[in-house]
Amino acid sequence: MYRKFAEQAAADGEKEAARLFTEVAQDEADHCAKFLQAEKAITGGSPRANVPTDVRAEPVEIQAGPSTVSSSRTLENLRVAMKDEAFAYAKYTLFGDRAGETGQPGLATLFHRTAAVEHAEHFAEYANLAGAVRDTGTNLCATIKRETREGTQVYPAYARQASADGDTEAVKLLNDTANDELKHAKAFSGELSALGKRCPTSS
Ligand SMILES: [Fe+2]
Ligand SMILES: [Fe+2]
Repeated sequence: MYRKFAEQAAADGEKEAARLFTEVAQDEADHCAKFLQAEKAITGGSPRANVPTDVRAEPVEIQAGPSTVSSSRTLENLRVAMKDEAFAYAKYTLFGDRAGETGQPGLATLFHRTAAVEHAEHFAEYANLAGAVRDTGTNLCATIKRETREGTQVYPAYARQASADGDTEAVKLLNDTANDELKHAKAFSGELSALGKRCPTSS
């Protein structure tokens, strides 16, 4: 995915994005090699034999401000990449917790350290380039918009689909989550009002 994004960024004249997508693609190949090595070590016998743990995150400082990218295709690719990295971070953290609980501390370390790279390096670098973090008022408006959309549209639609499919447990979870998101939206709206600010009407 990132190699294709790098090619598209290069074609769009977005040199910094092309460089970043290429660099992260290389990191992912390194992660893949380490997990393959871990799998071999574990399935080959002793759980603690040769699981590699030499992964180190080099945290990137977040710069608040607008994106320097002008290509809409590259901006959309950056958003897709951010979602992918956030999802990898969340999953690897849970996988690492599980490995720790099941007596595989080396594997837990590999998952947790890789998760840190996905979040503190990859996600952060993409976020900087995409201009994901702005001033607090803008951040609040983006958050309220997202929570409201999830609470009023996204999760209710998923719940209706789940209901049509007879997945009652999923219906309950999706409805509960939708309610939570609306509470979040309300809480953030309160913070925005306390700052004496309003969102643009398009938000
Ligand atoms: Fe990553
Ligand atoms: Fe939320």
